[in-house]
Amino acid sequence: MSRPPLRLAVLVSGRGSNLQALIQARDRGTLPVEIALVASDRLAAPALRRAEAAGIATLALDPRSYPQRAAFDADLFARIALAAPDLIVLAGFMRILDATVLAPWQGRIINIHPSLLPKYPGLHTHARALEAGDREHGASVHFVTAQLDGGPLIAQARLPIEAADSADTLAQRLLPLEHALLTACVGLAAARRLQLDGTRVLLDGKPLSTPLQLDAHARLA
Ligand code: GRF
Repeated sequence: MSRPPLRLAVLVSGRGSNLQALIQARDRGTLPVEIALVASDRLAAPALRRAEAAGIATLALDPRSYPQRAAFDADLFARIALAAPDLIVLAGFMRILDATVLAPWQGRIINIHPSLLPKYPGLHTHARALEAGDREHGASVHFVTAQLDGGPLIAQARLPIEAADSADTLAQRLLPLEHALLTACVGLAAARRLQLDGTRVLLDGKPLSTPLQLDAHARLA
């Protein structure tokens, strides 16, 4: 029985390379999704131009035109709800969201973060991994909860830190892995194989004891 494509809303704030990876996988026919909306808190986000070029509806709201943060978040999510997504994907979305707007979306909102969570939630993750002398770094996809970068982990991608790495080179080497990781995780959701049960991530109905790992063939195992 062929199921309908998974309907996505993607939230962005900047460059949009993770969004672009989802668009490319969709256009290749390897990711059965319909990107119903790309929304941003930055009117000038290049990611919005990528969405427009792909014929995807966009929404940009300026936080400065709201009396306070919660009002912005409430309006943004009210408009996202009108697009009726099955899944919200935070892809380089750089705003901390109010717990009130996240609550109705538990289990239906994921984020990609450029660190091996629970290490380095927040910003400057590549520099922090280097400063700590870590031997490896990576990215994580997790369900979003009110705790910043703290929701239940779905999957991770890892790469060795090289002696010559700077924060920039590390970020550049990690980015393609992020793209493969996010695409693979959205693929699991599109196959309706991924659920959140309280704080446990279920794959095919069975709780994950550790996050799935992206292998060298960009598959999750
Ligand atoms: C990515 O590294 C993502 O993990 C982080 O911000 C960056 C966004 O990149 N949240 P892009 O906008 O998807 O190119």
